[in-house]
Amino acid sequence: MLTPFDVAQCAAQEAGEILRRFYHEGAAIRSKGVADLVTDADITAERRIAEIIRKEFPDHSILGEEENAGSVDAEHLWVVDPLDGTTNFAHHIPHFAVSIAYLHHGRPQVGVIWNPIRDDLYVARRGHGATHNGKAIHVGAQTKMSESLIGIGFYYDRGAMMEATLAAIGDCFRQQIHGVRRFGTASLDLAHVASGYYGAYFEYQLSPWDYAAGMLLVEEAGGTVTTCHGTPLPLHKSSILASNGVLHAEILPIVSKHANY
Ligand code: IPD
Ligand code: CA
Ligand code: CA
Repeated sequence: MLTPFDVAQCAAQEAGEILRRFYHEGAAIRSKGVADLVTDADITAERRIAEIIRKEFPDHSILGEEENAGSVDAEHLWVVDPLDGTTNFAHHIPHFAVSIAYLHHGRPQVGVIWNPIRDDLYVARRGHGATHNGKAIHVGAQTKMSESLIGIGFYYDRGAMMEATLAAIGDCFRQQIHGVRRFGTASLDLAHVASGYYGAYFEYQLSPWDYAAGMLLVEEAGGTVTTCHGTPLPLHKSSILASNGVLHAEILPIVSKHANY
């Protein structure tokens, strides 16, 4: 019998093939809201992931960004972003990923993040560490913001939340950080914290499918993930601050000062 770990990897692989095909052959792009895009690739990939999970675990719930509205209270829950980084995908930037997490009683047990264009596979299993293409990864050794790159995300807001993010970025720069990066795929931003590239990453609004797998990856790589107010992440829309753990105390007051989220 296959385990959730096997199924998550198999589903990510198959969904990745679908994304790769649409990426090279072209996909119809539609708008879900201001600056929020969806393509045939998102929908087709989520359908295939759900099919693979349901075949092996028919009684498990699935919460997916596009079509599956599983309950976050389910004992066995899969949290799926079939295409994280749709804006990159739509503009033909090869920085996007499939993100799949399996949760037991609301706690992530397995996380898989797969960029099918760059062949980057990140995997985490609770208690078993985190890997990138089979090699163990660990958060960075930065001890101060002034030694760090900081990852940033902007939600699909063009008002107060965007202004708050810009204000927080200004305060980060005033700590003499090495720079900020906005690559546009939250799951891979979390993978960058887990790999030590970023000392920390924050965003004022994400959904569970954006962070469920990446959160486990960061924690298994030795880091810390909370809301921008330092509280545990809930399984609904939330701000997020991920760091190597050491930097959390220094950056938390900066990101919380600007966050009403
Ligand atoms: C988005 C990306 C982006 C983040 C947004 C997310 P999507 O996910 O992860 O980096 O800044 O907040 O919504 O819409 O491409 O799946
Ligand atoms: Ca996403
Ligand atoms: Ca998505």
